[in-house]
Order: sequence, then C-alpha cells, then structure tokens
Amino acid sequence: MKRATVPVRGAWVRFPALLALSMLAAMATGRVSAQDEVPFITTPDRVTVAMLEAAGVGARDHVLDLGSGDGRIVITAAKRFGATGLGVEIVPELVRKSREHARAAGVAARVEFREQDLFATDLAPATVVTMYLLPEVNLQLRPRLLALAPGTRIVSHDWDMGEWLPDRSLTLEVPDKAIGREKKSSVHLWIVPAPVHGTWCAGGARLEVTQRFQRFSATLQERGALAPVVVFDGRVDGTALHTESGPATQARLSYQSRPAGAELHWLQASGVASAHAGRSFVRAAAAGC
Ligand SMILES: C[S@@+](CC[C@H](N)C(=O)[O-])C[C@H]1O[C@@H](n2cnc3c(N)ncnc32)[C@H](O)[C@@H]1O
Repeated sequence: MKRATVPVRGAWVRFPALLALSMLAAMATGRVSAQDEVPFITTPDRVTVAMLEAAGVGARDHVLDLGSGDGRIVITAAKRFGATGLGVEIVPELVRKSREHARAAGVAARVEFREQDLFATDLAPATVVTMYLLPEVNLQLRPRLLALAPGTRIVSHDWDMGEWLPDRSLTLEVPDKAIGREKKSSVHLWIVPAPVHGTWCAGGARLEVTQRFQRFSATLQERGALAPVVVFDGRVDGTALHTESGPATQARLSYQSRPAGAELHWLQASGVASAHAGRSFVRAAAAGC
C-alpha cells in the first residue's frame, strides 16, 4: 500500500496515500478539524462482526465506539450480540443518522449516540472499546485505555498501538473495502492488563514486579535474606498473572482491586515457590515492606 506523511497534532505520521491526500487537502483549505484528522470511512459489516467476535461481546457488555460514524458497530453489538452501547461522534449529521439506524434496527432502547469529542469522553463505563481511527490517535488514547479496568477489551480496525502489542490479531479479505489497494483489514484485540508494576508485601516477603504492558518479571525475597527466593517472568491476562519461565517455577497470581487498595493473591505455585501459594500481597507503603 502506498503511504504518505502527514502532520497530525504536531507529529508527522505515515498514512495510506488516499487518506493522506484527503487530510492534506483539508489542511490546504485551512479546514483542519478532528474529523479531517480521522475521516468518515465505514468498517465493512464483515469486519464489524469479526471485531465484536474477537472481543467476545455478549449481553453483559457495554460497547463504546470512539468515532462511531453511522453507528454500525454499536448497532450490530446490540442487535446481533445483545450488548448495550454508546457511540460518540463529532459530525452531527452522522449522529442523527445513527439514531435513525438504531430505531430502524429496533435497538434504540439499548444504544445511545452522542455528538461528542472522543477525547472528552469518559471511557470507564465500557467493557469493550472499539476504534477505527488512525495510528496517531490510537497512540494518544493509549494511556487512557491502559488505565481502564483490567480485563476491558479494546478492538481496533487496522491500526495498532505501537509497543503495546495486541493479544490477538487477524487479517480478513475485504473485497468491498473503501480504501487501500490490498482489500484486506486487520483486527487487533488488547485485553487491558492489571497494573501490577511495583513493590508488594506479604508478612516478611517482598515481591518486586516489573511490568511492560502484558509482560512482567518478578523477584520474591524474604526479609533479611541475601538472595531472592524465586525469580520468574510471565504474562498478565486481565487480572490473571501466570509464569512462562519453565517448569522449575510455575505460579498463578490474581490481581484484585479493592477500595482499600489493590491485592495480589498468589493462587498456585510449584517448585521453589510452592511455599508461597495462598499468600496475599498488598502494595508496599512508602517506607517499603
Ligand atoms: C474511520 S470513521 C469510523 C466510523 C465507525 N467507527 C466505523 O468503524 O464504521 C472515524 C469516525 O470518527 C469521527 N471522529 C473523528 N474525530 C473525532 C473526535 N475527535 N471525536 C469523535 N468522533 C470523531 C469521524 O467523524 C468518523 O466518523
């Protein structure tokens, strides 16, 4: 796919040539606004369904589409998957159309469309966030998405989130895709990992966790001991942590957010770590454990 470079919110970003042309044209006429940065291009129905399936959307989900266009993702989430949903969109005519489409689809009571800037939208009520935006916009949203409740699913059509690698990606053939020569779409899924980075304490034990998105490494040390009892690394899948460092140390931990502060429960361990199963850790106070 041919790509060109376009300035977006102060940074130069590479986009597919067609999209870049429309953005540069808007800039040349002086009409640069958020919708020029992210033009209205619909996600084809096949891709919409694949996005919602990838996120495992069901009747207990609340789907938030950031830049909801004509409302199709939120409407499909409600009609086909039984979810509730909110679409935020800055083009008033698209918001009006989305409401009309929701009524026609018989899901007006389960969905809402607001004329609202996605950057001013509270993301917290969502259990699933969907996006068909642009790479730079995804990156701008990344810190806010990472701060969502652990386990929240994020699905993006085509664009990724840089160093925050997706938990799963798939590519679909899309003959009716409106842009690009390849006629393919990517769907990327992220599951918000629990924020476990830092020092945790349980009795006389100190657990130091270093986290980079869904990866972590940890060392456990008993008070007064010269060397760590155990060193391991692994993955954070929502609120579940599990080791991937071989059979010598297998461990499963679970993160729980509580009003009094987060807790890390060490559910299962093997090898040198087996004595620690059943322990619950809390974040270290400023003075340490
Ligand atoms: C590529 S379209 C995707 C539409 C729809 N989500 C879909 O996948 O079919 C992006 C949409 O985001 C809207 N948009 C752009 N900037 C926005 C902003 N700051 N706040 C809300 N909507 C925005 C555009 O008007 C456009 O309708």
